[in-house]
Order: sequence, then structure tokens, then C-alpha cells
Amino acid sequence: MVHCTVQVVSMESVDADIVVVPVFESELSSPRLTTLNTIFGGYLKSAVAGSGFKGKETDQLTLYSLGKMRASQVVLIGLGKKSKFDTDGLRKAAGEVAKKAKTLKHVAWILEAGPKGLAQEGIASAVTEGFVMGGYRFDRYKKGDKDKGRGDVSLTLCVADPSDLNGLEVMVKRGQLLGESTNLARDLANTPPNDMMPDHFVKVAKGLFKKTSVEIEIIDQKKAAHYGMGAFLGVAQGSKSDAYILIIRHRPKKGAAPIVLVGKGVTFDSGGISIKPGKAMSDMKADMSGAAAVLSAMNVIVKLGADINVTAIMPLTENMPSGGALRPGDVVTAMNGKTIEIINTDAEGRLILGDALAYAVREENAAKIVDIATLTGACSVAIGDLAAGVLGNHQSLIDELIKVGRETGEWLWQLPLFDGYLDYLKSDTADIANASEAGKAGTCTGAKFLEQFVGSTHWAHLDIASVMKCPNTKGYMVKGMSGAGARLLAEWVMAQAAKVI
Ligand code: BES
Ligand code: MN
Ligand code: ZN
Repeated sequence: MVHCTVQVVSMESVDADIVVVPVFESELSSPRLTTLNTIFGGYLKSAVAGSGFKGKETDQLTLYSLGKMRASQVVLIGLGKKSKFDTDGLRKAAGEVAKKAKTLKHVAWILEAGPKGLAQEGIASAVTEGFVMGGYRFDRYKKGDKDKGRGDVSLTLCVADPSDLNGLEVMVKRGQLLGESTNLARDLANTPPNDMMPDHFVKVAKGLFKKTSVEIEIIDQKKAAHYGMGAFLGVAQGSKSDAYILIIRHRPKKGAAPIVLVGKGVTFDSGGISIKPGKAMSDMKADMSGAAAVLSAMNVIVKLGADINVTAIMPLTENMPSGGALRPGDVVTAMNGKTIEIINTDAEGRLILGDALAYAVREENAAKIVDIATLTGACSVAIGDLAAGVLGNHQSLIDELIKVGRETGEWLWQLPLFDGYLDYLKSDTADIANASEAGKAGTCTGAKFLEQFVGSTHWAHLDIASVMKCPNTKGYMVKGMSGAGARLLAEWVMAQAAKVI
């Protein structure tokens, strides 16, 4: 657990194990460092000069205060060039510091307004987010790890002016919830697939919203059949575990059409009869990362009281091969009446999302829809792991998402949704095929398939297959499943709410 607070306190008198002082590149004679140098009796300047610390993005310098301050250590942390600075730099720096908090339990962070008019509030939220995310570990299944369980850690943001306190406390709360929700999405995706089955995901969701006024509805397979969700049921039929569509409704405003968030929740994707090769197949436990992002974003939206109607829809199922599984060549009928020829049972995400999107349009009367899914391996081929793909039928919605992506550090890159891609999905037998035989433009054809289920409703699709997993621990990223999309969706929804908290 991380405890985050704001205090009006000076560097020398804050009660902590370490005091973190952020420093911009080549700004070594700032008022902050001059004060610190005086506290250290002039020794700081020569220590910095001798160390090679310049304030570059990854620079860190630890100094022992030797009784000159209440905290035993001061850490100068580089933020890079002031002209290039953004809030994500702060998140990364705070994420690095959080790793030190494994041994040092109490961290104080000296806060001040940033360049380019960046308010202290935004900085407070970003530092808190980065710190909470950077300290994440998934060690629930490591029974013999001596290092296990970090216990409680505290982060104190230190400010000079008492009049700032209220606004900052709100932003720290917000940052903490955003960070914790990303960690929740990571937990859900990292959990082994024999424990994270659809019923368990539902249980977690119910626990999360127990003390809130949200409405939770669960569509089981019987009810799904009643709605005619043949595509969703087709995927589910190969698995021994029950499949569900989990729906969460946040309705602070009477009568207004909701924003609908749809998340792919395949709790394990073996590929089905079109079975995947063995290499890294275990990563497919995280094929419910879209649903995890939606649930986690909902946690923020509801708990910060965003004044806007939102519905979350999470189709949850395994994709397994069995005697009862969907076959290549089978034809299923989706909720919107479209017949789909199954070319490849590994293109299962679009099948369950197709029904979920049709439901969002017909039953939820969606004002606009954003879906998020680990949909195609082709997305990594196209853009690597530096961004997720975004496609859709409404450019200003896409632009909004791209902007929020930049601010949250969850970059999006737009890919085309040309009409011609529909030709790739022509079927000789049914209205549409679930995959193209040629396999060209995989991410675009995946999105083109989904577009067939949204009608004229404004819609954007986020393909997070490329960013599902962090290859290593760096900044606020922790090796393992990334929790991608939770903060992005939460911030995008909150940007449209008239009032938050
Ligand atoms: N869940 C996978 C996509 C994926 C791959 C996510 C790697 C994360 C990492 C998806 O269901 C899938 O198998 N897609 C196929 C689509 C193809 C059969 C048209 C793919 O990407 O190969
Ligand atoms: Mn698949
Ligand atoms: Zn999948």
C-alpha cells in the first residue's frame, strides 16, 4: 500500500528516509539547489561537480545529509531539458524513485510548478501516478521469495505555500487512484489463466463496486442466446468455463445517452482449433487486457464521481480447442443479424466484440463508443511497442484520444480504415469472413470487421496488442503485463465530464 500526502514543510525539516529534489538539465544553480548547498555548508556544489550529475533524464545522485537535514539522504533526480519537459518525464522519474522505496519506506518529494505553465496540481498528480505504478510488483504466486511484500510505503509531496494545500490534495488522490487502477489492470492481466477465468473477473468487478451506486448486469450464455449473440457464443462454446458479458452502468445524469467503453476479455486465447504455436502462448493469459483496462478506468470514473453517464461492456470468455469448439468453415450469426464465416478461430476477439458493439448500439443507446482490445499481433509489426493503434469512423473522436494519449504517456498512432479493406473480408458463403486469407493489413482489417457492428454511432477502436506487455522494468513500467489503457480511458472520459469529484 502506498500512502500519499501533501505537507507544507521545508526540505531540511521533512521527516523522511529520502528527500527527492528534481533538477532540470543544466539548471544546477537554481534557487532550490542554492538553498540545498547552503544547508550542506557549501559541500553540495563540489559533490555535484565531482559526480558528473547534469540533470539528464536518467541522472541520479544520492547524498548523505550527515545530520544537516532530518532525512538521512537527498536524491537529486534529473528531469532532462526544461524545453522538452512533459508530465510523463515526472511519472518516469517518480517511478524510478519508487524502486528505491523497497528499502527506504518514506519518500519526500519537493514539489514546484514546472515550465511551460505546468501547474503544481498536474505535477502532483503525475508524481503520485508514477510513484504508485513504479513500485508495482506481482509476487502473489512467489511463495518462497524473501523479498516479497513491500509493505507500506509513504510519499509526501512537500510544498511551500499553505494556500495550495486543498487543490493539491485532490490531485494527489486522483493520481493515486489512476496509478492504483493501472496496477489493478496489471494484476488482472498477470494472474494465471487458471485463476483468471470469466467468473473470477466478474467477482473482482463486483468486489470493486460493492459500496457504490453503479448497476452491474451479467449476461450469461442463456441470455446471450436470447439476444442472438451467435458470434460471442461461438467463441465460448469451446471452453469448459462459463462465459459472460459483464456490464457496468454509471448513471449520475438522468436520461442522457452514455459513453460506452467496450473491452475484449479473452481470459486465455489458445487460438482455438486454429491453434497458436507454443512460443509465448502463456502471454495469452493477458488477452483480457482490454476488459481489464475498461474495468480499471471505470474504477477511476466512479470513485472520482465523474459527472457523466458511462457504460462498460466486457465480453468474457476463453478461446479453447475442444470437441465442441468452433471450426474453421463454421458460420455464426451475430446479434445484428450478420452472418460470419469463421476462416480462423484465432480471430476470436472481433467475434466477441462484434456482439458487444451491436449490443452497445441497440440496447445501451450509446452516444459514442470506444473499444479496447489486444486484437492483432500485426499491430506490433506495424508500430512496435511504443504506441497502441487507433482506428475509427469519427476523426475528432480519434484526435481527442490521441491527445489524451500524449498527456498520459499512453501513445496512440492512427492507422487507416479504408473502405477497400472490406473486400479483404469477403466470404463466399456468409455476409462477411472473420479474417482474410491473405493476412494483409491485419490491424486495419480487424478494425474494419468491428466497424460493421457500430452502424453510424461515433466509434474508435484501440488495438493494445502492441503494448500489452512491458519487456523490462524502466521508469514507471514494470516487466510483465502493462495495464495499458486504464489511465487513457479514465482521463478521456473525465475530460468530457462537467465536473469530477
Ligand atoms: N489475441 C490475439 C492477438 C495478440 C497477439 C495479442 C499477440 C497480443 C499479442 C488475437 O486474438 C489473434 O490471435 N489475432 C490474430 C488474428 C488473425 C488470425 C487474423 C493474429 O494477430 O494473428
Ligand atoms: Mn486469437
Ligand atoms: Zn485474442
